Amino acid sequence: MQASSTLAAMQAAEALRAEGADVVDFGAGEPDFDTPQNVKDAAAAAMQAGKTKYTATGGTRELQQAIIDFYAQAFGARFERGEVMATSGGKQAIFNAVVTLINPGDEVLIAKPYWVTFPEVVIFAGGIPVFIETEDTGFVLSVEQVAAAITPRTKLIILNSPCNPSGRVIPPAEFQKIMELLHDRGIYVITDECYLRFVYPPAEVFSAASLPAELRSKLCVAGSFSKTYAMTGWRVGYALAPREWTRQMLTVQGHSTSNTNSIAQAAAVEALTGPQESVGEMLAEYTKRRAWLLNALRQIPGLSCNEPEGAFYAFPSVQSFLQGELKTSADFASRLLREEHTVVTDGAAFGAEGYLRISYATSMEQLTEGITRISRFVERLRD
Ligand SMILES: Cc1ncc(COP(=O)(O)O)c(C=O)c1O
Repeated sequence: MQASSTLAAMQAAEALRAEGADVVDFGAGEPDFDTPQNVKDAAAAAMQAGKTKYTATGGTRELQQAIIDFYAQAFGARFERGEVMATSGGKQAIFNAVVTLINPGDEVLIAKPYWVTFPEVVIFAGGIPVFIETEDTGFVLSVEQVAAAITPRTKLIILNSPCNPSGRVIPPAEFQKIMELLHDRGIYVITDECYLRFVYPPAEVFSAASLPAELRSKLCVAGSFSKTYAMTGWRVGYALAPREWTRQMLTVQGHSTSNTNSIAQAAAVEALTGPQESVGEMLAEYTKRRAWLLNALRQIPGLSCNEPEGAFYAFPSVQSFLQGELKTSADFASRLLREEHTVVTDGAAFGAEGYLRISYATSMEQLTEGITRISRFVERLRD
């Protein structure tokens, strides 16, 4: 397995900080906000009430119900208790779903650029990741691209919209066409909805869970509390999948980690069912930063950036600067770190050489300072 390059970027920044450097960090893959107070209070109350024991492997009744109710309310989707399980983050939901389905030699479609974990989990399960190029469509996956990648050995596709790292969103109509195609071909689907709520108008929040039941018969929705509620450290996510698939995932989880943390589960119930103001406040802040960042990036000559309709990343191309000693986006990122103490993540880590991921899960002050540094760096490259 490959070590996570996003973690490597974090470590490089930490090493510079330890030497006393003033580092601007655009590498973060997690919200810079604290977990909402009501969620923390719920965890404290759960601890005091003695909710400190094992729960059912798939989570408490309260948490399962809260997840079911959220999908019913937001997307009109009907799920039963046997079709939902709480997991240790969205990551475990994806892991469970892949290892229960994939046998050696099975092909799994993954669109580029992809979240780094997808191919690694597929390889772990003995499967073969088959990558779909999407640069021609600005990194928005189309039904034609999916159709062209299907072979008789295709067992599964992993979809991620909004996408980490590109921030792009598959429009709902296109998403439905993709799901219809996959249904016709009998291909399983995992939709990673980790950034479900991070969509900026006019783009729309969309879950495959809202599709008609027949299109969902081979669908596993993997979700997470990490980003929406700034709860990355609590490790709560979930899977919504057909009963038999869920049963197998419960077996894997039951023999590996068992239930996710009981106190964190109580906190997650409050996150979903309690006041939602803090989510709105966080989204308003991301909206402001996104608009500012996109505008600033587009003013840097030579840099080009697609519109990221979701998540909290911009994914600009630095291809026009790659010449001479600066051959790759990794070279660009490491020189930027060395010369301007600014951390960005190399797009090649996500299967997109020539691009950089810039996270705006950081303050406006840091964004402003970081863009000043990138502009200065780029100006020197042009000289
Ligand atoms: C696309 C995507 N999916 C899933 C995850 C997993 O998040 P967690 O396990 O914290 O829920 C992440 C985290 O960075 C992500 O970016």
